[in-house]
Amino acid sequence: MSAVRIGKADEIKDGDYRVVAIDRFEVGVFNNGGRFVAYENRCPHYDGPVCQGRIYNRVEEVLDERQCHVGLRFGAERHIVCPWHGWEFNLETGVHPGDKHMKLKKVNVEVLDGDIWVETPRPR
Ligand code: FES
Repeated sequence: MSAVRIGKADEIKDGDYRVVAIDRFEVGVFNNGGRFVAYENRCPHYDGPVCQGRIYNRVEEVLDERQCHVGLRFGAERHIVCPWHGWEFNLETGVHPGDKHMKLKKVNVEVLDGDIWVETPRPR
């Protein structure tokens, strides 16, 4: 398995990302709180460019002591929202919050001496 250097880690700020072409794949590389994660840029729904979606903190429902809705708030967990039909995935795990079987295809990424190295994805 080969890896490709895609740039310096300090070029991708926290909450930002790059989509890069590696071999015949597109890969989204994300800085999620200083930790890098990478996914193939293909949504499990209809192969949309999920890694080019917007990143939001997860919206959580606030309940009172009777378990009645009293509002909404942003939680700490970041999600990426596919730009085609709005499916969202946990940025750290790649898993859809409502169906653990729906997930992005993870790509190995690591930072060595300040450089980001991304493994070439395997064909599906
Ligand atoms: S292709 Fe991503 S939500 Fe439909």
